[in-house]
Amino acid sequence: MSKIVVIGGTGLIGSKVVAKLTAHGHEAIPASPNSGVNTLTGEGLAEVLTGADTVLDVSNSPSFADDDVMNFFTVATTNIIAAARAAGVTHYVALSVVGAERMLDSGYQRAKVAQEKLITDSGIPFSLVHATQFFEFVKSIAATATVGDEVHLSPALIQPMAAEDVATAVARTTAGAPLNRTIEVAGPDELGLDDLIRTGLAAAGDPRTVVTDSEATYFGQKLTERMLLPGPDAILFDTRFEQWLQTNAPAPTK
Ligand SMILES: NC(=O)c1ccc[n+]([C@@H]2O[C@H](COP(=O)([O-])OP(=O)(O)OC[C@H]3O[C@@H](n4cnc5c(N)ncnc54)[C@H](OP(=O)(O)O)[C@@H]3O)[C@@H](O)[C@H]2O)c1
Repeated sequence: MSKIVVIGGTGLIGSKVVAKLTAHGHEAIPASPNSGVNTLTGEGLAEVLTGADTVLDVSNSPSFADDDVMNFFTVATTNIIAAARAAGVTHYVALSVVGAERMLDSGYQRAKVAQEKLITDSGIPFSLVHATQFFEFVKSIAATATVGDEVHLSPALIQPMAAEDVATAVARTTAGAPLNRTIEVAGPDELGLDDLIRTGLAAAGDPRTVVTDSEATYFGQKLTERMLLPGPDAILFDTRFEQWLQTNAPAPTK
């Protein structure tokens, strides 16, 4: 039985990954401020990593402001790497975003790229999973794109996926041998970003109007048509947005 520490193991993806790894017989330990492990201060990191074979980082910054998110991913990753080295960890897995490396006008994506560079330069065998946007993220995308009663969004293509499928991909990668490269995972369908959010808000009974606006930025990034899409080697999962909505329609935003 291998010991796997899941940084951010209480989050949306982390909690699902912990459940999947545990069901497959691994000792998966969620580690986050809720369990006394803080990657920004280093509190609890050495203790939780003692005897661990693998560390998986699926944490996220509480603030998406440019400086905050860069500080979060660089400080946290530097601390995790130091503690993982000291503990003799032999596999470092992290979750990042499809296309992060080409969306450098976005402070969030710059921080994810910085996180990935620290990991790939660490000398610890690693695997990076790049996922497309989660269906669960529709509400957050709408929130950042809202101007008055309207939601301004680019018609750029997006191939989103269910968090459950992301967790399956991450759990499989974490339980496997280090790949020392990045793999991409995505959902089954290319959709317009504007149409995705329009459909999601309508399903939630949200009254906001989605306006198609090719000048609209996405988390600080002006999008080109295929910027959010994965490459031809991506592993595709089956869950479709319309199918997911039947049981997961987001609650209306007040
Ligand atoms: N949203 C998308 O569409 C998308 C697409 C591709 C990739 N991703 C990536 O997916 C990852 C996971 O996202 P998510 O939505 O599952 O995150 P989430 O639900 O917001 O969970 C964040 C996790 O990070 C933990 N955390 C926060 N501050 C911490 C700290 N100082 N030390 C240790 N842990 C800390 C939280 O712990 P507490 O519960 O204790 O606060 C929580 O477990 C992110 O890295 C993101 O970049 C997201």
